[in-house]
Amino acid sequence: MNRPKRLLVANVAWAHETAARNPGFFRDLVRGQNPHVLWIGCSDSRVPAETITQCEPGDLFVHRNIANLFHPGDDNSASVLEYAVRVLKVGHVIVCGHYGCGGVRAALLPPDPGLPHVNRRIAPLCALAKTLREELHGHASERERVDRLAELNVLEQVRRLRASPIVLEADPAPLVHGWIFALDDGRIKVLTSGYEADDATTCTTAAHSAA
Ligand code: CO
Repeated sequence: MNRPKRLLVANVAWAHETAARNPGFFRDLVRGQNPHVLWIGCSDSRVPAETITQCEPGDLFVHRNIANLFHPGDDNSASVLEYAVRVLKVGHVIVCGHYGCGGVRAALLPPDPGLPHVNRRIAPLCALAKTLREELHGHASERERVDRLAELNVLEQVRRLRASPIVLEADPAPLVHGWIFALDDGRIKVLTSGYEADDATTCTTAAHSAA
């Protein structure tokens, strides 16, 4: 059986099992969505938002791209934020990066001429890496540098989101959280929760060192 066929067979099994477990499940899905969380994560296949948080369809409004980046000038990520905040009225925006991120690693390497779209997309991340060069070189191994940049990248996206008029003008404004997922044990670490006042300091500091 080819791979797409396998996916379709699995889908039939999932639909049957879901309906058997919860007979009202699909009827509720048809009625509409009311997610409370916008998830901005990496496209990496190893970090599926719903799976790692045990969420169901309807729980998360999801945007994923290489290295979980948010650009206010990019209609793709900005439209997702706009819809999530203004129409769905989500209470939380979670940026979830991950250790061992290939997009983050690429930002520390010379651009690959075969990947012009990726290069353009991660240009702000490359710029962030340059401004953080000193701090990153304090880490001995490439792996540590990639992982530290992955954390600082999450904080930078959080800063951008918190500064976005879409978030600032919302009433109530959604809380913006920064998380990072570890591939080696499946656990998420909270870098900034959006709840504590000192979080703002962490983000501001990261933003200043990135500015
Ligand atoms: Co990644």
